Amino acid sequence: MKLIITKHNLGLWAASYIRARWAAREKDPFVLGLPTGGTVVEMYAALSGLVKNGKMSFKNIVTFNMDEYVGLPPEHDQSYHYYMKHNLFDHVDIVPQNAHILNGQATDLHAECDAYEAAIKQAGGVDLFLGGVGRNGHLAFNEPGSSFDSRTRVMELTESTKQANSRFFGNDPTQVPSRALTVGIGTVLDSKELLFLASGESKAEAVARLTQGEVTQQWPITALKTHPRAALLADPAAASALTGPAKEQLEQALLRQPEEDVILTL
Ligand code: GLP
Repeated sequence: MKLIITKHNLGLWAASYIRARWAAREKDPFVLGLPTGGTVVEMYAALSGLVKNGKMSFKNIVTFNMDEYVGLPPEHDQSYHYYMKHNLFDHVDIVPQNAHILNGQATDLHAECDAYEAAIKQAGGVDLFLGGVGRNGHLAFNEPGSSFDSRTRVMELTESTKQANSRFFGNDPTQVPSRALTVGIGTVLDSKELLFLASGESKAEAVARLTQGEVTQQWPITALKTHPRAALLADPAAASALTGPAKEQLEQALLRQPEEDVILTL
C-alpha cells in the first residue's frame, strides 16, 4: 500500500482523485464506496463544486455508504442518511435509487446486511472505496478485533468510538447509539481500489501502526496493507507519530522538496 503525506487540503486532493478515476473509468456505472465523518466533509464540498461547475457528473455513479447507526431515523441530524443528503446528495445529480445506505431501522438487521452485500455484487463490485479512520484504527464501524474477511453486519460500538463520536451528540457518550450496521473489512477489501483519509493528531497512532508492527485485527487500519491498490492520504499531523525508516524517509523527502506530497510504499 501507499502512504501519501500531503500539505494540501485533503478534501480537494481526494475529490480531484475521485474525479480522475471516474473520468478514466472502464465501465458504467462507476461504483463508489463512501464514508461519513468530519474528515471527509471538505471532500464532499469539493465534489459538489466539481459537479456544479460541470467537471463531473454522478449520473452514471452508484454509491454504497459504509455504515449507519442502528435506530436513528434518516431525518435525525446525526444519522448518516442525513449527513449524506446534506453534504453530497442534495448537491449532485445522482439518481436517488443509485445511492445506497444501510437502513439502521430495518426490522431484520441481518437480512438488511445480506441484501446490502447482494446489491454491491449486483452493481459489479466497488471500483473505488473511500474511507476515514477511527482513532482506534477502525475502518467504517469495524472495531478492533474484526476479522479481515468480515462482511456487512451489526457491530457493537466500543467505548472509545462512542467517546470519539460523542462530540456529535452533545458530548454525551450515552447518547451515541451503541450499535451500527457496517460493511465488513472483507467487503472493503473486495473493492478494486481503496483511498482512505486521515487528518489530525488524533489519528497519528493509527497511522503509525501502518509503519510499525505487523498486520493485525487489533488495528483494522492495517488491513489496507493486504490490498494491492490501497492508499492512505494523511496530513502532516496524522503522520506525526511515524517511527523508524518511514519517519526517516518522510523527513528526508520533506527536506528535499518541502511542498511536495511524500509517497511511502509500505
Ligand atoms: C465514524 C465512522 C467512520 C469514520 C470515523 C472517523 O466512526 N463510522 O467511518 O472513519 O467516524 O470520523 P472523523 O472523520 O470524524 O474523525
